[in-house]
Amino acid sequence: MQLIKKQHLAEMSDTLHRVASLPEAEAQCLPGWFYTDPEYFDYEVRTFLSKEWHCLGREDEIPEAGDYYTTRLFDEPMLVVRGDDGGIRVLSNVCRHRGMPIAEGTGSTRRFVCSYHAWSYARNGSLINAPRMRDKGVTKDNCSLPEFRSEVWNGFIYVNLDDDAAPLSSRLAKLEALLGPYETGQMRHVQTFEEDWQTNWKCLVENFMEAYHLSVVHPETLHPYTPTGLSRKSMSDDNFTAYCANYPKEAVSRGVGAPGLSDDERRRSTLFNLFPSQVASQAATLLVSLSIQPLAVDRIRVRWTMSTYGDELTRDELEQRIALWHEVNREDREKLEKMQLALSSRHAPSGHLAPRDYEGTIWDFYRYLSRKLSACC
Ligand code: FES
Ligand SMILES: [Fe+2]
Repeated sequence: MQLIKKQHLAEMSDTLHRVASLPEAEAQCLPGWFYTDPEYFDYEVRTFLSKEWHCLGREDEIPEAGDYYTTRLFDEPMLVVRGDDGGIRVLSNVCRHRGMPIAEGTGSTRRFVCSYHAWSYARNGSLINAPRMRDKGVTKDNCSLPEFRSEVWNGFIYVNLDDDAAPLSSRLAKLEALLGPYETGQMRHVQTFEEDWQTNWKCLVENFMEAYHLSVVHPETLHPYTPTGLSRKSMSDDNFTAYCANYPKEAVSRGVGAPGLSDDERRRSTLFNLFPSQVASQAATLLVSLSIQPLAVDRIRVRWTMSTYGDELTRDELEQRIALWHEVNREDREKLEKMQLALSSRHAPSGHLAPRDYEGTIWDFYRYLSRKLSACC
């Protein structure tokens, strides 16, 4: 049985490497089972997803000491909190007594008190008190909340479950150059949303990162501003891929944004995928970022944030943008959930990818996946 499994995974990996090594002009899609096979999903999690940096949200969601929100990554419940020193920490949200989550949702607190037997923890996770445990050897040295590795880059909070992973920010100079003029780190958090989608995590990455569907799936919402035909592949490296969704000449300005932006930069949205699981759209006055949390082969949680630059957009305009993005997500979700059911078919295709301006980012994503599996196996 184990041998069969190994052969099966080896065949899948060979297919991935073969597809990823095709010349760009001949780029193909991955077969359907890459998105539907539970065994392959477990393999992805084990071999590289659990060792990569994942975006959890924006740091100004929790601006003051004691502000927190809860989330999870794979099997790990997490408590993202701003400490008394002003820094961000990502703590284990599992009580050291018998495993109750320490906090739920979002809030602000001076200390965290477990709702089960009232053990309490400071905002840095250090155990403060364990009632009636005086002679049990329970101390802050052995019963504080463990902290996960985290980094803040351009206002995004990232976490990594692997203590040996290479740091993130120092690898992002090229993406930094692309986003720099937008002052992404200065964008102000407006609102956060969470929803579960019945799709494979890679399907949403690919969908967000290709312009080919924009005019077809989003005729009313996105096509007037970001039609497929004006989209252009942008830069990429081992850590990310990107494309520019350019606005038509006749489109009304969507705002000025940061002072260092060129006219061209003001008249497009830059969409990027920081491998593996963050996709985002950066425009002059609006930043939308989706953190994709893989839950199962056919299920994800999407935690997405909207941020804006300064006070240029009024509250009404921001509400309109929120409504627009809800509609865009609904349109994409409908397609992806239908496609997920069809991808199990024995006839699921390995079709051709569209030219690079429309689906070249997917080719970059495949090559990232291939590199990761090569490095792991
Ligand atoms: S589980 Fe938290 S105090 Fe008992
Ligand atoms: Fe879309």
